[in-house]
Amino acid sequence: MGAITFYEKERIFQLDTPKSTYVIGIVDEENFVGHVYYGKKIKDGRVGYLLRTAEAPFVPSKNNGERVSFLDSFPMEYPGNGLGDYRRSSIAVRTQGGHAAVALSYVSHKIYPGKPALPGLPATFGDAESCETLELLCEDGVLGLKVTLLYTAFTDVDVITRSVRIENQGEALYLTKALSFSMDMDNRDFSLLTLHGSWGRERMMERRRVGHGFMGVESVRGESSHQDHPFMALEAEGAGQSSGEVYGIHFVYSGNFIGQAELNQFDKVRVSMGIHPENFCWKLERGESFQTPEVVLTYSDTGYEGMTHNLHDLYRSHLIRSPYKDKKRPILINNWEATYFDFDTEKLLAIARQASKLGIEMLVMDDGWFGHRNDDTSSLGDWYVNEEKLKGGLKYLVDEVNKLGMKFGIWFEPEMISPDSKLYREHPDWALAVPGRTGSLCRNQYVLDLTRREVLEHTYESVAKILRSANIEYVKWDMNRQLTDIGSLGLPADRQGEIYHRYVLAVYELQERLVTEFPQLLLENCSGGGARFDPGMLYYSPQIWCSDDTDAIERLKIQEGTALIYPLSTMGAHISDCPNHTVGRVTLFETRGHVALAGTFGYELDITKIPEEDVKQIPAQVEMYHKYNDLVRGGDYYRLASYAGNHMYDCWELVSKDKTEALVTFVQVLGRPNYKSRRILLKGLDADKYYRIEGLDGVYAGDTLMYAGILVENPWGDFQSRLYHLTEVLN
Ligand code: GLA
Repeated sequence: MGAITFYEKERIFQLDTPKSTYVIGIVDEENFVGHVYYGKKIKDGRVGYLLRTAEAPFVPSKNNGERVSFLDSFPMEYPGNGLGDYRRSSIAVRTQGGHAAVALSYVSHKIYPGKPALPGLPATFGDAESCETLELLCEDGVLGLKVTLLYTAFTDVDVITRSVRIENQGEALYLTKALSFSMDMDNRDFSLLTLHGSWGRERMMERRRVGHGFMGVESVRGESSHQDHPFMALEAEGAGQSSGEVYGIHFVYSGNFIGQAELNQFDKVRVSMGIHPENFCWKLERGESFQTPEVVLTYSDTGYEGMTHNLHDLYRSHLIRSPYKDKKRPILINNWEATYFDFDTEKLLAIARQASKLGIEMLVMDDGWFGHRNDDTSSLGDWYVNEEKLKGGLKYLVDEVNKLGMKFGIWFEPEMISPDSKLYREHPDWALAVPGRTGSLCRNQYVLDLTRREVLEHTYESVAKILRSANIEYVKWDMNRQLTDIGSLGLPADRQGEIYHRYVLAVYELQERLVTEFPQLLLENCSGGGARFDPGMLYYSPQIWCSDDTDAIERLKIQEGTALIYPLSTMGAHISDCPNHTVGRVTLFETRGHVALAGTFGYELDITKIPEEDVKQIPAQVEMYHKYNDLVRGGDYYRLASYAGNHMYDCWELVSKDKTEALVTFVQVLGRPNYKSRRILLKGLDADKYYRIEGLDGVYAGDTLMYAGILVENPWGDFQSRLYHLTEVLN
């Protein structure tokens, strides 16, 4: 049997992953599509009785006089709008007559191996071996709208993905809401875990009890944002780090989103996620269709740990495509915190010379190499080399860096335009703008109207031209402000409501073209730090800059929240100089190294100026990276202690898939007087294997390490850290 079963008589669809089951039922003569079950795997999904439709006169065909009671309580897979279900709808329209109602009923279905790509959108992928797809075709006969609910069940990871394709076969209408997923469940004293943040402190975990009414996460900023993350976990009463039931819901999208949880009068919870309906209005002519982005759902009965493992495995195997995804990334040194805008060829080469001697493998030239940019007030859009700074040109610099045996990488912010730029003087109409209004500048820049074909083409060419001009092997693609002034000269009045989504599609198109023309390129996304760290961008770049806050201690919290849902291989993390440029904290160079090791690992400092004792540590750090990066990238991640929660110390562990090796990182954030040691219980080892711990005497059994633990000797002061490397001992 495949992952998806259709029980014809019962009109039930059962979707199975290795450890979870999802059940959909079609009911009544009107073919309502109901959500029956999502949770721990069950053998037989014929549990349609849970929908209570046998209890006539509950269903409209038996008792139309109470249609509203039915619609307002029936657990819908994809709720329509305006006809009696007073909970949040998933889809809404504006017709020629000005009406908003939508009602969907099942028409037919298809089940097939594999998973279709979503045109123009990033999405998880899988072959016939690793997943199966169900397409439920529904329709609203009055509108002539065909709505296909797409579900894919993975067979190698506990994940189900959902998206929706909407095709108009009736009169032209406007889609005013088109979410990607909705699900109604009985409340189990759920709490919602979300990731809140700001610049410099992205993805802080927050929990709140799901109460009556409505709550959620959202962005209306044109990107996934620092502030809220397109992710929610629904945690059943009693669930925790390693036990209990957790549902993870994650949106593969980089623009405006909404994720909502609504607890209603009958103690049912409706959760949904999709493109934010605010300022969204998409015209669908007859024959046109709209594909929503995809939502990833994962169920775990081993708490957050299981959810984390499912998402890490999914993204590593079924989302990231880069040739680097399973490879060590070159250790880079970035000049941003080293020089900011004040650099020239000589300064960069001095950094590169010193870095290459110490084992660093790539120089990345950050902001300030183009136009006449010496601060953030000019030149975005003028993507040609400033030869006053880079004497001899870009190719000369790249060749010199290559001669040192290092790769070369470069920074761009392609989506932006400075008013003080040649590009703006030539094309003032290329910025997003509302006619008659003063544009809202942010970091002295406007956003390019990428929804216009000529602007997109020009933007692509300006980046590609530079990449073609020299041996550039890495690009940091930045985006340093959020969208405002939503107006495009390229779209008619009734399509201005499409700009936010079209903008995101344009960014995807640009990055798709880039990785197609330069297939070996290592692309790192970035947005004022981590404001566009989302699964959508991971489809194009295997790593994303996590945060502009490079302080090792602040990073503990940022990286914990990020690693909750993203593999460590995706988290851009650098060792920077002290006092830290964001918070002024002074930490040990060694600790900074241990924290950056949990990400992509690199340096962001002036290696020609940092203290000699720090420089001396670099070769050993480089060695440490090479020794552990396979494990960090490919292993299972376990959270052993959370500084964000206990305010004193942090601890995480990576275990190789075959459980022969593990690495534990412990950071004592605040020293504690008269405190001798702390017992740490390891996780994920093989209870029957024996392990040696580097630097410690003896051999330890896996069960001892997991249930009795190790002793972290604790006589040190603030910000000290330690690694424990375990390897299996064969006897
Ligand atoms: C953003 C990035 C930084 C740096 C600057 C350059 O803030 O996150 O790493 O590239 O832009 O302006």
